[in-house]
Amino acid sequence: MCGIIGYVGNRKASTILLKGLKNLEYRGYDSAGIAIKHTAGHTQVKKSAGKLEEIGQSFNSESIEGNIGIAHTRWATHGAVTDENAHPHTDCEGKIAIVHNGIIDNYKELKGRLISKGHSFTSDTDSEVIAHLIEENLGYGFEDACMKAFSSLEGSYAILALKEDEDKIVGVRKDSPLVLGVAEHGIFLASDIPSFLEWTNKVMYLSNYDFIIAEKGGIKVYNEGKEVLRQIDTIGWNIEEAKKGEFKHFMMKEMSEQAETVMRALLQDENIVRDIVDEINNALGVFFVGCGSSYHACLAGSYLFSRIAKVHVNSVLASEFENYEHFLTDRTLAFAVSQSGETADVLFAVRGAKSKGSKVVGITNVLGSSLTMEGHALIMMNSGPEICVLSTKTYTSQVVLMTMLAYAVAGKYEEGLKKIGSLYLDIYNLTSRTMRDSLAKLAEILRDKWDIYLIGRGLQYTTALEAALKIKEVSYIHAEAFAGGELKHGPLALIEDGTPCIVFVSAENKSKILSNAEEVKSRGGYIIGVSSEQDDLFDFWIKVPEAEELNPIIQIIPMQVLAYELAVLRGLDPDKPRNLAKSVTVI
Ligand code: F6R
Repeated sequence: MCGIIGYVGNRKASTILLKGLKNLEYRGYDSAGIAIKHTAGHTQVKKSAGKLEEIGQSFNSESIEGNIGIAHTRWATHGAVTDENAHPHTDCEGKIAIVHNGIIDNYKELKGRLISKGHSFTSDTDSEVIAHLIEENLGYGFEDACMKAFSSLEGSYAILALKEDEDKIVGVRKDSPLVLGVAEHGIFLASDIPSFLEWTNKVMYLSNYDFIIAEKGGIKVYNEGKEVLRQIDTIGWNIEEAKKGEFKHFMMKEMSEQAETVMRALLQDENIVRDIVDEINNALGVFFVGCGSSYHACLAGSYLFSRIAKVHVNSVLASEFENYEHFLTDRTLAFAVSQSGETADVLFAVRGAKSKGSKVVGITNVLGSSLTMEGHALIMMNSGPEICVLSTKTYTSQVVLMTMLAYAVAGKYEEGLKKIGSLYLDIYNLTSRTMRDSLAKLAEILRDKWDIYLIGRGLQYTTALEAALKIKEVSYIHAEAFAGGELKHGPLALIEDGTPCIVFVSAENKSKILSNAEEVKSRGGYIIGVSSEQDDLFDFWIKVPEAEELNPIIQIIPMQVLAYELAVLRGLDPDKPRNLAKSVTVI
């Protein structure tokens, strides 16, 4: 779960790569590094632990002359966060440099073998074996040495390699993302599209086991030893979408885009939606599978299907999905929900389902991601790039898609589109300056709390879960959600004088959830109501419109803003919470 980028072209590689790395930092920010094939004929490596903004200066990239280079930003898996473990890694002679995203499962065995042949290692990473493996095979020439080295790897990998006397970058992808960007002045190879969007919107998607040779003169792609043609697409994303603009953080920018992104999620090919509806109707067992926020969207989806379409759907955490494999058959339909399309647990679940003959529908936001290639059908979220590590606009888009599908299964597709479409202004107002100011005041009240509890019933319970995740991951305040009815079965013991409890109210469950809030209040709790109507119980009121089955799209938005304000007040970077990364490519 790192970010990699390579460039070969006419421009100064170090300048381009440092900019590209900045765009990739959301994928990991433990350390960063670049390797340039220097015009003087050697490989120059600069790398260091720390965030790019702290270490970028020390790279003094302007002094590195060369038009071919690779770079890496790391989320540590194997080996501590140290300079030595930062990528790029080199061979014994320092001639070959590699960057890697993924995990090499058999690295211990390979390392042992290489050490017995005299190779010496300088890091604790799994990735360093790749540089030494290429070195070991150099007798075959650089390209073949790379091919041989890559073929002995087990695990997941997107790798870029360069050598001091070769005018090319050699790459490979297996179960980790790698896309190519084709600009007039050069070629990019990177973990995602936004990293090179400033220079080109022409992209080439790669398949598993694609082996790439990128030179100034062009690109060659091989798969199973044969040259293959991969199409170059022009994508609709633009660089403005991938930049912060006037916003201080990507998180605020992305939350503010939700009025638009919710509408864009509705722009689906009707024929594909109808085909998927047929699949749902014919299936014997439907599963919604995801992790983290995507799982919360799945849970909301299962409530929505039950309520709107009267169809039973199982929502399962992707990491727990294997426990359901006994129930999978060729009549099962599994929806794999993942904004990044790269989450290892989700991809593992997809493969498990496919191995049982089940059909898989992918729901993702990232073009060219693994999920776009693994499913039998695909729904794109159309949210545009989401750079902040937290899911905000992609979460609401997922819930929108679930709602839209539920309406379609109920035979009310048009009605669903219309209802969701009518939310535009409400969503817009929820991220307005007035709303943000009010939530900033609430954040002042909550900033030094140790715990925040959140309760809801029905659809509002799924929102409480997602809101708790948002608050904890970005502000580091312990936040925990409970179904309102569960309070008296244990959690009430946690309430003491001043304990904050956020209560999600809907017209439908108003009296029950308010009586739960009363239970908290009478034990000294501080009640924050998320509701369309004021109530005497509330110590603080967050006013939201009542949207019935669309409440999950609406009620989460002020919670995202609150989480953001808490992070900012506590001096934290909302875009890069500690220990997290945007796409979680490890199990
Ligand atoms: C929370 C968050 C994570 C992701 C989870 C799954 O803000 O972003 O919980 O939702 O890691 O990621 P995807 O959707 O990429 O599979």
